[in-house]
Amino acid sequence: MSDAMDAISTKSDIYYPSPEVVAQANVPDYLTLRAEAVADPLPFWDARAKELVDWYEPYHTILDTSTAPFFKWFVGGKTNIVHNALDRHVKNAHKNKIALIWVGEDGDERVYSYFELWKEVNRFANVLKSMGVKKGDTVTIYMGRTPELPIAMLATVKIGAIHSVVYGGFSEQALADRITDAKSKIVITSDGAWLRGKTVNLKDITDEAVNRSPIVQKVIVYKRTGQAINMHAGRDFWWQDLMALPIASAACETEVMDAEDPMFILYTSGTTGKPKGLLHTCGGYQVHIATTLKYVFDIKEEDRYWCAADPGWITGHSYIVYAPLMLGATSFIYEGAPGYPLPDRWWQLIEKYSISILYTAPTAIRSYMRYGDDWTERHDLSSLRLLGSVGEPINPEAWRWYHKYIGHERCPIMDTWWQTETGGFMITPTPVVPLKPGSGTLPFAGIQADVVRENGESADPNEEGYLVVKHPWPGMARTVWGDPDRYRFTYWSEFLSHGWYFTGDSARRDQDGYFWVIGRMDDVIKVSGYRLGTAEIESALVAHPTVAEAAAIGVPDELKGNVIYAYCILNSGIEGSDQLAHDLKEHVRQEVGPIAIPAKIEFVPSLPKTRSGKIMRRLLKAQALGQPIGDTSTLEG
Ligand code: PRX
Repeated sequence: MSDAMDAISTKSDIYYPSPEVVAQANVPDYLTLRAEAVADPLPFWDARAKELVDWYEPYHTILDTSTAPFFKWFVGGKTNIVHNALDRHVKNAHKNKIALIWVGEDGDERVYSYFELWKEVNRFANVLKSMGVKKGDTVTIYMGRTPELPIAMLATVKIGAIHSVVYGGFSEQALADRITDAKSKIVITSDGAWLRGKTVNLKDITDEAVNRSPIVQKVIVYKRTGQAINMHAGRDFWWQDLMALPIASAACETEVMDAEDPMFILYTSGTTGKPKGLLHTCGGYQVHIATTLKYVFDIKEEDRYWCAADPGWITGHSYIVYAPLMLGATSFIYEGAPGYPLPDRWWQLIEKYSISILYTAPTAIRSYMRYGDDWTERHDLSSLRLLGSVGEPINPEAWRWYHKYIGHERCPIMDTWWQTETGGFMITPTPVVPLKPGSGTLPFAGIQADVVRENGESADPNEEGYLVVKHPWPGMARTVWGDPDRYRFTYWSEFLSHGWYFTGDSARRDQDGYFWVIGRMDDVIKVSGYRLGTAEIESALVAHPTVAEAAAIGVPDELKGNVIYAYCILNSGIEGSDQLAHDLKEHVRQEVGPIAIPAKIEFVPSLPKTRSGKIMRRLLKAQALGQPIGDTSTLEG
């Protein structure tokens, strides 16, 4: 046992890795290596950049801090992630290995080898070129969970363009805002998507969003459901038709990119205003995600790895699409929702496809827990060897259930803390790290995280404080698309004099140095692991003709982590009613998406505000929870 393990061996409720797990781990001496890499991150990242990434031209500087907080990594390096994810495998032993297994909700199945996926990506890359897409252009992708989504992403990046994937659960206004902000002239969508036996009409939503964002010139539509939709002549083209044209040849050169060229934008919610487009770049992102997937999920040649997120979120970008392909792994994608048509759907899939690694969110685990263990016991889950969790703190009860009923007390659980902004895992165990249910354990090798007080001093053990990162890391978002001031202000102003990144989360660190993330400190609400800003919900509500003012808060919920409560002041002469509450929920569904629908809407004559006019959501929350309302000294008189 290493020293780090000895130090915590006296505590209860610790799950030690079994000798078998340690013996087969990709990096058995991780704890020693980690200690060195946390103290001195650059040699660690430099070695990983050389080990896991092929460069067309080598970088001359690992990290350039001269333009902080706009850091640059692997400066001078020339690369393209698609070379590392596909091109190189077609020339090595992975050529005919399975890259992707996809199962549709309706039971459709498609299997792609690396060679087949490479050809599809090349063909679609040629289609994009023929539509006028060039290096540096943005492409908005709004699709269901079919292989065409990763194919569209990879094809975009292959030709040096920048993708902005908008999760298929978002609706008209959310999509329109993202298209407009990214200035995309081209949108890729599907006619519809299957969800719990019904179809979601993605094309209708796209049409409405495109009407609101006149910049769009072309829409490519992948036919998935075959439902009736409108195609606008001259603007809309079927994916399948384009792929049948001679221009869609399987030969396409991969664009040589600078390490700091933009790779993708991903929108995420913040405290104020519209969602911000976090920009990730071509070099450092690759190094970070390939390293973390190799170390944490311990990927091996024979694995069948299933990250059950949606490719439209950062989890899907990094750990469904890009990192598994970089490592030559076999990934599994399932189109449908958990628990449909029956609560054993996932367990059936794990058995049938011999999945060895499952990575999901606490909210899914809690819903499976509710269905009861007889659903899990019907299936042989012995192929599993590792489990993972992401998106919100996992409550120890759900952790233990996952460990016992899914992992059969054999599979370590990787509770990975990270963010859209961080690109990849930041606080996480690896299979050799002793686990405590509910803790993401330790900052990953090369990551300097801390819990600090407002004045920057490190908090005492078990004292709650601000979760910060004190040294840049390669996967960090480089800026907010089109708004560098917002990037600087949002992440770097809280601890400006120290030059630290503020995560927006509160956390504590226990006596063993283990991190326990508590939750958001700002007005971001995590609903079933999805990130929503109060501002988005409020602006959707006030866009309704009956609403004068609105406030949204997150209230803890056993299943979803949090649910949204909304408080509305109605325009004069309008009476609140159950029907109006229902209409407003429908309105939020249409404007933002189903994930943003408030669980409760209350009509109020006024909202508590500070003297400067800021809504005191803290007070609304205390009231909703029946708690004392605390200090109201700044409350409006
Ligand atoms: O509050 C933290 C929570 O999710 C936030 C980031 O959300 P998003 O950018 O949507 O990325 C989610 C997937 C990476 C964080 O600020 N969070 C994420 N993972 C965990 C977590 N909270 C506790 N434990 C986690 N493992």
